[in-house]
Amino acid sequence: MGRVQDKVALVTGGASGIGLSAATLLAKEGAKVVIADFNVEGAKKAAENIKSQGGEAVGIFLDASKEVSIKEAVDFTVEHYGTITVLYNNVGLTNLQKDLDVVNIDLDEWDRLMNVNTKSVLLGCRFAIPHMVKAGGGSIINTASMAAFVGDSVRSAYGASKAAVVNLTKYIAAQYGKDNIRCNGVAPGLILTPAAESNMPEAVLDIFEKFNALPYHGEANDIGYTVLFLASDESKFITGQTIQVEGGHYMANPSIADFKEFVSKAQSN
Ligand SMILES: NC(=O)c1ccc[n+]([C@@H]2O[C@H](COP(=O)([O-])OP(=O)(O)OC[C@H]3O[C@@H](n4cnc5c(N)ncnc54)[C@H](O)[C@@H]3O)[C@@H](O)[C@H]2O)c1
Repeated sequence: MGRVQDKVALVTGGASGIGLSAATLLAKEGAKVVIADFNVEGAKKAAENIKSQGGEAVGIFLDASKEVSIKEAVDFTVEHYGTITVLYNNVGLTNLQKDLDVVNIDLDEWDRLMNVNTKSVLLGCRFAIPHMVKAGGGSIINTASMAAFVGDSVRSAYGASKAAVVNLTKYIAAQYGKDNIRCNGVAPGLILTPAAESNMPEAVLDIFEKFNALPYHGEANDIGYTVLFLASDESKFITGQTIQVEGGHYMANPSIADFKEFVSKAQSN
């Protein structure tokens, strides 16, 4: 008996990175999984891999920037597997060229990121919740980001869109809790997915690792296992929360290195 045996999950952005990890782990633990992604070939390949290991999955096309496509993905899940009891809203975009500080940000990019990162979460829930109510309950998980909790020099739209996901998570949890629907988020710090690795020079990765409390980077399964837990009944009394999975990067006083240096200099005098 798997940890999410016979649950039916729709995972958006499941062809690579964090979504692929979550889809694979959910299937390994007994869920039937629809992997929905812009990269439909990648989604189908991921489903084939899952099937070759004895799991149950199917890959389909999704454009999370379009309401009709999100509705089609939810409808497909219900038609194919009879219901939907887990929704993992994972698609999210960032753009280091256009998503800048507030004075210089490209406003079309602001709209695009708000649409894909935040509105797609609202729409996934809007279409899935009536089916979950019919099924007697469900678990919704949204991918936020640690960018939701801190300020930064650039990526204003990304941070704001993910902060909205954190609060929307609470609203959904508050509105549908009595229908036995839970809604939680996961906020990754830097996770070495293929996308993150190809976007970041080695020197930037080193800066991230330096400020982690732990001596290593995060990887996709660190998020995948958190999603698995939130999808399972093991987390049945947790709702409205966003779990921060970030290696202690943002947890400590940021001036700690300077204070250490100050103390060590004072001791040597
Ligand atoms: N990797 C990190 O360091 C990190 C940190 C914080 C938050 N996140 C968040 O985690 C989530 C997944 O990130 P990742 O690093 O695994 O990214 P990724 O690029 O590896 O995977 C994202 C997937 O989403 C798909 N996708 C993109 N746009 C789509 C669209 N409009 N419709 C459907 N599918 C689409 C892509 O084809 C890809 O398969 C995102 O929401 C991201 O913001 C990632």
